[in-house]
Amino acid sequence: MRYLLGDKGVLVIGGSASTSLAESISRELGNCPFTLPFRKRFPDGELYVRIGGRFEGEDVVLVQSTRRDEEILELFLLEDAVREGGAKSLCLVLPYFGYSRQDRRFFPGEAVSARAMARRLEVDADMVITVDLHSPFNRDIFTKPMREVSGVPAIARLLRRRPVDVIVSPDKGAVERCQRMANLLHKPWLSLQKKRIDSEHVEISLPDDAMDLTGKHVAILDDVISTGGTIVESAQLLKKMGAENVIAACTHGLFLKDAFERIKGVASDILSTDTLENAAERGSVAPDIAAILKERLVVGHGSP
Ligand code: R5P
Repeated sequence: MRYLLGDKGVLVIGGSASTSLAESISRELGNCPFTLPFRKRFPDGELYVRIGGRFEGEDVVLVQSTRRDEEILELFLLEDAVREGGAKSLCLVLPYFGYSRQDRRFFPGEAVSARAMARRLEVDADMVITVDLHSPFNRDIFTKPMREVSGVPAIARLLRRRPVDVIVSPDKGAVERCQRMANLLHKPWLSLQKKRIDSEHVEISLPDDAMDLTGKHVAILDDVISTGGTIVESAQLLKKMGAENVIAACTHGLFLKDAFERIKGVASDILSTDTLENAAERGSVAPDIAAILKERLVVGHGSP
């Protein structure tokens, strides 16, 4: 089955940060056309991109995480190429929306990077799809229609294959996500308490009414693993409380510096979604993104 919007087809374009996820999305859309743009650097270091094939009059889905500055730059160029190439519509998929952590102004003179990026990235798009925004404040920063996909179903597909007794939230911010996971897997959940010391260090404690964890298989779920400080401290505490083993799971696996190795030292498995390329076992958010795209698409019978 091939998905069409209007007379023409859908073209999925994978930016360099999201090639495999873009391909998975095209598969979920019945193997609709998929392309990877050509990229090169000019002698002075400036970036050049070119999207092969025709997309005039087509509905384009452009997939690119914006973790690194050069990926943001590439996205701006790709959006321009899509629009100038006469695409009928552009749906921008930001699997990992970088720069979203500064979501408020804490001190005078600060830039609110989440808003600054959202406003610039969405300019050429008709719609934006992203995955697990860092904070609820970020839900209102896009002015174009925006849909947020949850990473929970993708991680749940991986956790279902393992023994899991308890879902653990490392802090208050992840409670909603963990409750959703606990409901999907029909398991109890528990929230730890986190005090951030600095950008790399946290203190984690158990609430007074925490359940007995002796012999339990525990899965900690966070939105992002960055330095690994939160997950490592949480896993160590859970093991001290008698947990048999700990799985570390997140939507966005950044795994900065030696985070992956440090987590491996305390967790039996490291799971993430495919919003970012990394060495974890990755569950795909492609079916969940494609489900939103399909709401807008008309089923057709054209040859792929
Ligand atoms: C905090 O608000 C987030 O949900 C994560 O817990 C945090 O970003 C993880 O960072 P790290 O891996 O550096 O502890």
